[in-house]
Amino acid sequence: MSLQLKPRTTVRAKITSVGTYVPPRLLTNADLEKMVDTNDQWITERTGIKERHLVDKGVATSDLATEAARACLAKRGIQPEEVEVIIVATVTPDMMFPATACLVQNKLGATGAWGFDLSAACSGFPYALQVGAKLIESGAHKKVLVIGADVMSSIIDYTDRTTCIIFGDGAGAVLLEPCEDDEVGLIDFWHEVDGSGGVSLNMPAGGSLNPASHETVDHKDHFVHQDGQAVYKFAVRKMAESSEGLLSRNGLTGSELGAFIPHQANKRIILATADRLGMPLDRVVINIDRFGNTTAGTIPLAMNTALEEGRLKKGDLVLLAAVGAGFTVGATLLRWEF
Ligand code: COA
Repeated sequence: MSLQLKPRTTVRAKITSVGTYVPPRLLTNADLEKMVDTNDQWITERTGIKERHLVDKGVATSDLATEAARACLAKRGIQPEEVEVIIVATVTPDMMFPATACLVQNKLGATGAWGFDLSAACSGFPYALQVGAKLIESGAHKKVLVIGADVMSSIIDYTDRTTCIIFGDGAGAVLLEPCEDDEVGLIDFWHEVDGSGGVSLNMPAGGSLNPASHETVDHKDHFVHQDGQAVYKFAVRKMAESSEGLLSRNGLTGSELGAFIPHQANKRIILATADRLGMPLDRVVINIDRFGNTTAGTIPLAMNTALEEGRLKKGDLVLLAAVGAGFTVGATLLRWEF
């Protein structure tokens, strides 16, 4: 019997739609002033954040992810049944298992899709983009939903002023489809891990090492623990190094980019990276003032902001870059195709 092998393909993937969702409730710097010893000026100067959106009790990551996915599909005029794969980047899954992607598949009614979660913290979205792109490039699939979603408020200690000012809840989804003949789409990816940085940013309990117990709750080990300065230094260095590395191996410089869409962790990290890349500020997308750090949600949320503000045009070269817990590092180079 002769084998009937599927032909190899050389097609690239492109983003064909973006949808986002943030919960309506706002937590402003003025609200935080009443909760911890902080003030609007300190938060604004050190982080650039003014307000963040938080879920109400009972609303989970899968709810945000599903809303973002619905918006994304509606913009493209695609029915949920047509989606083939759902990848959810998150560090705040609804529960340890089943995967949030399974919950989204059900809520969305994406009856033809398989999927899984990807854990890479703030670099989760660029990581998931590459995985999704490869599923398209291989010819295996034609419609892949890549979602970055986190409910950070579920793992934040709102008595710890060093972390509670930073994070917010939110989700963004993009649809990946094969490029048409003359299109370029997702061009290249740059990913790194430095696992020695795990100690600087983590949630110590709730996994197999420290399962939930009265003790872990008393020690506040189910919250984000962070060495802010260590994270800051690594982020400033690696956002720039990964971006420069990705640009230079594609023969590009920052000045040739139409838009730089960075992870929104701290406005000072973004500005330092843009400065090192020689990016004019009008091409740097910043919305951290409105959403804070939504972890895997920041890049698609910022992509949507850029679209709403008319700052992304067909043919623009776009760079995405992120650094997160792990440490993880992720950057994507693409040509905007719609
Ligand atoms: N309000 C007022 N003062 C605060 C404060 C707050 N919310 N949080 C910390 N402080 C105080 C500190 O206690 C310290 O006081 P001291 O000098 O009396 O000891 C002072 O402000 C400076 O603290 P420091 O930690 O040096 O501030 P910083 O400039 O490094 O800013 C972060 C702190 C957390 C904003 C910054 O380190 C950061 O953004 N790190 C990266 C975090 C991140 O991106 N995490 C997500 C990973 S993607």
